[in-house]
Amino acid sequence: MPTRVLFVCLGNICRSPLAEGIFGRIAAERGLDVEIDSAGTGDWHVGRPCDPRSHKVGTARGCRMDMIGRQFEPADFDRFDYIVAMDRMNLRDLQRMRGAKREKVHLMRSFDRTAESDEVPDPYTGTATDFDDVAAMLEKACAGLADEIKGKGR
Ligand code: 4NP
Repeated sequence: MPTRVLFVCLGNICRSPLAEGIFGRIAAERGLDVEIDSAGTGDWHVGRPCDPRSHKVGTARGCRMDMIGRQFEPADFDRFDYIVAMDRMNLRDLQRMRGAKREKVHLMRSFDRTAESDEVPDPYTGTATDFDDVAAMLEKACAGLADEIKGKGR
């Protein structure tokens, strides 16, 4: 059975699609049996492609970036094994939902033991450098998450 991983941010156009793309590349490199998706807590960008700045940094890092935005829905608590939030607001929004399976919800950077902060900051109103920084954070945290899943032998 594949391990099912869902990355969640606010808009599902900047951070969580990039996490999905990077984790997908790492999982393929390591031969992990996973199913991967991403979603936003908000609905503003449902049906839209990811932000061109995330598309650019993701493809430069060898990732597929052809995902389409969708909103998180309560059934995702049943569909996924790991629900991975980018920041504390995403974590709180998920944990407050009716029917939340809190034990499945993690902060992305909790999988990076070297991280100086537990949040992946929102780059939406930021610069190209902010998107590069986010990608570097996600590379480390996704590698840690891959280690964890591999360690569980799934
Ligand atoms: P994301 O960034 O949560 O990393 O996708 C954002 C994208 C859009 C908005 C906020 C954050 N927005 O307010 O539209």
